[in-house]
Amino acid sequence: MALAYAPSIETTPVRIAPRYDHFIGGAWVPSSGGATFATVNPATEEELAQVAAGTAEDVGRAVAAAREAYEKHWRPMRPADRAKYVYRIARAITERSRELAVLETMDGGKPIKESRDFDVVQAAAHFFYYAGWSDKLRYALHGAGDPAPVGVVGSIIPWNFPLLMAAWKIAPAIACGNTIVLKPAETTPLTALLLAEICAEADLPPGVVNVVTGDGRTGAALVAHPDVNKIAFTGSTEVGKIIQKTVAGTRKRMTLELGGKAANIVFADAPLDQAVEGVVNGIYFNQGHVCCAGSRLLVQESVHDEVVEKLKARIETLRLGDPLDKNTDIGAINSSAQHAKIAELVESGVAEGAVLHQQSCALPERGWFHRASFFTGVSQSHRIAREEIFGPVLSIMTFRTADEAIEKANNTPYGLSAGVWTDKGAKSMYVAQRLQAGVVWCSTFNQFDPSSPFGGYRESGFGREGGVAGLRPYLTV
Ligand code: NAI
Ligand code: MG
Repeated sequence: MALAYAPSIETTPVRIAPRYDHFIGGAWVPSSGGATFATVNPATEEELAQVAAGTAEDVGRAVAAAREAYEKHWRPMRPADRAKYVYRIARAITERSRELAVLETMDGGKPIKESRDFDVVQAAAHFFYYAGWSDKLRYALHGAGDPAPVGVVGSIIPWNFPLLMAAWKIAPAIACGNTIVLKPAETTPLTALLLAEICAEADLPPGVVNVVTGDGRTGAALVAHPDVNKIAFTGSTEVGKIIQKTVAGTRKRMTLELGGKAANIVFADAPLDQAVEGVVNGIYFNQGHVCCAGSRLLVQESVHDEVVEKLKARIETLRLGDPLDKNTDIGAINSSAQHAKIAELVESGVAEGAVLHQQSCALPERGWFHRASFFTGVSQSHRIAREEIFGPVLSIMTFRTADEAIEKANNTPYGLSAGVWTDKGAKSMYVAQRLQAGVVWCSTFNQFDPSSPFGGYRESGFGREGGVAGLRPYLTV
């Protein structure tokens, strides 16, 4: 049963150049080897632009530019003056928010309402928040005197929140007086490059922010560069482990924000309609390309059937299709590789005996799309209960008591986030305190604020981003 509705396509025009160079030392610089790669629109499979493929030499030039800017301009600058630049970037993001949102949606496939109301808003909020800290750092780390910056930061980010992850890395780094070389993900480089343009227009001293585009090889060169003082990485646990090996034995600092397999726990006493909305937001937001997605639903046995019926009805109302349509809830899967990974895991779920439920809508003829899906009859040993699917696929399991829910929720190598739905405040505290996760949401999910720290336990990584805690990795005392 597909709902009929009139499409309402976002039409803000966005200028996309046929070719993009690196942003190094305040200038646009082609790759030393001249090589480029294509970034495509996953909703149409059409090429949007060719982008410079960063070599180790390009990374070296960017690190040198960042070092020079650090020594000559950024570290000596009065913190109150540094703050002005960071505020200026925040304001420019707000002013160009529509353009950023459209570009984000075209390059990565996420629904325009999400890039418009979440990604761009949160990115600006992050710059505003950290700008405020620039001249107050002596109050940030209690009893630590006047902290100093770390130096040159190398940041590598993923494709699920391209602009927002760039903001999470750049804003605290430069607000604390560091300079940065950022490597965006290869499928979504365009908003980071537009952010570089914004930095140039904000008159940020050349070399404070540098963007080098490329794939994992470019990222590896940045991690290995001897003149980088700190690595900040968000991405897969697999690559996080490779980076740890490279950094081991050097004096580089490191923070890693990796995968997750979060439990969203629904007790029988919860307001179930509200909880189902939270479950839907938890797993289908951004097509489930979310490290903190609520991908394991633990529902109390007595309300299992009722919750499943509600969820079946609710996913039929999700609108899947053109990400530029303002009504779209489920956009395109970011890449064909990710699409194949999701499909493979869904097949494994069926093969291992779980029962697959999907929305029944038709899929667009072009582009990579995946229907909103969930599995019932899942056991903890199934791959779909253990591995990060990073797609719109939920695995439902049951529990009887709070302690059983806690035990099942913690039965994962990850520990990034979790959710608890109950009408009883004391129960929600009892459970939240026992969940081994960096963030626990109570009667909500996927809520973010720049003042709130975010990060993981175990294989979800270490270090915190956001809030006062998010300053620490960028300061020495
Ligand atoms: P990935 O970890 O390979 O990519 C993330 C970033 O790391 C990209 O910028 C990439 O170019 C870079 N990179 C890749 N290899 C590198 C290396 N050896 N050294 C330095 N940088 C390197 O993630 P991928 O392959 O795109 O996605 C695979 C799976 O990882 C997803 O299906 C999902 O499960 C998980 N993932 C988790 C994310 C999170 O936010 N926690 C984000 C992206 C992916
Ligand atoms: Mg793309």
